[in-house]
Amino acid sequence: MSERQVKSRERVADHGEVFTAQREVNAMLDLVKQETERIDSRFLEPACGDGNFLAEILRRKLAAVKARYKKSPADFEKYAVVAVTSLYGVDILGDNVEACRARLFDIWDGEYSENCKGECREECRDAVRYILTRNILCGNALTMRRVDAEGNDTGEPIVFSEWNMVTGSLIKRRDYRLDVLMGEVNSPKTDGQLSMFDAAANAADSLQLDPETKAWIPKPLREYPLVAYWQVQEV
Ligand SMILES: C[S@@+](CC[C@H](N)C(=O)[O-])C[C@H]1O[C@@H](n2cnc3c(N)ncnc32)[C@H](O)[C@@H]1O
Repeated sequence: MSERQVKSRERVADHGEVFTAQREVNAMLDLVKQETERIDSRFLEPACGDGNFLAEILRRKLAAVKARYKKSPADFEKYAVVAVTSLYGVDILGDNVEACRARLFDIWDGEYSENCKGECREECRDAVRYILTRNILCGNALTMRRVDAEGNDTGEPIVFSEWNMVTGSLIKRRDYRLDVLMGEVNSPKTDGQLSMFDAAANAADSLQLDPETKAWIPKPLREYPLVAYWQVQEV
């Protein structure tokens, strides 16, 4: 095992922190190669460390953006933002979260600077930094709750933002609880009537009945107004 894979014996003992080598990362991602090259396919790395899997997925997605949009800096910028919005991570250690965000930003910015050159905008870089603070979170992936810098459970649920590019340059943000997305909250058992149990589990606040499919689907905790993708940090 290389030094790069282990930071300290203590961290291995306390948190099982052993980073995956690049060769294994590539081999595993190759099992879902098409998805890793699809610009908007969403990935969650639930114990992301400093982002070995997310970093490689971002590289692959940005290569796809480049192959398709290298002749248009405006399109490259937009789809490079879409790529970063699709990546999510959770780690229980704050320093890993910081390192993961910084690493993903550096990969993103390297490609952005190289491909958009004089047309790069600081505002867009700020938007990507902001998206990474929303998508890469410090939390416990088992309890699906946030932890603070000291590793204490804050009692707050992990909440992720879904970003959808809708028309032109506008992006729609909706926030969802991770436990709801993972199906940890039961749907109401009867047609629209909540049982005592479901009410206690807060199902009505977390799920909504899809009129088309008649299935219970996650309900956003919060929806945000449409905004240009380079201004998401201002809403
Ligand atoms: C085996 S390492 C893997 C890191 C990275 N996914 C990789 O493959 O290189 C496990 C990671 O999970 C984190 N971790 C341990 N328990 C966790 C938990 N309950 N919730 C979230 N992250 C956790 C550790 O801090 C560590 O970064």
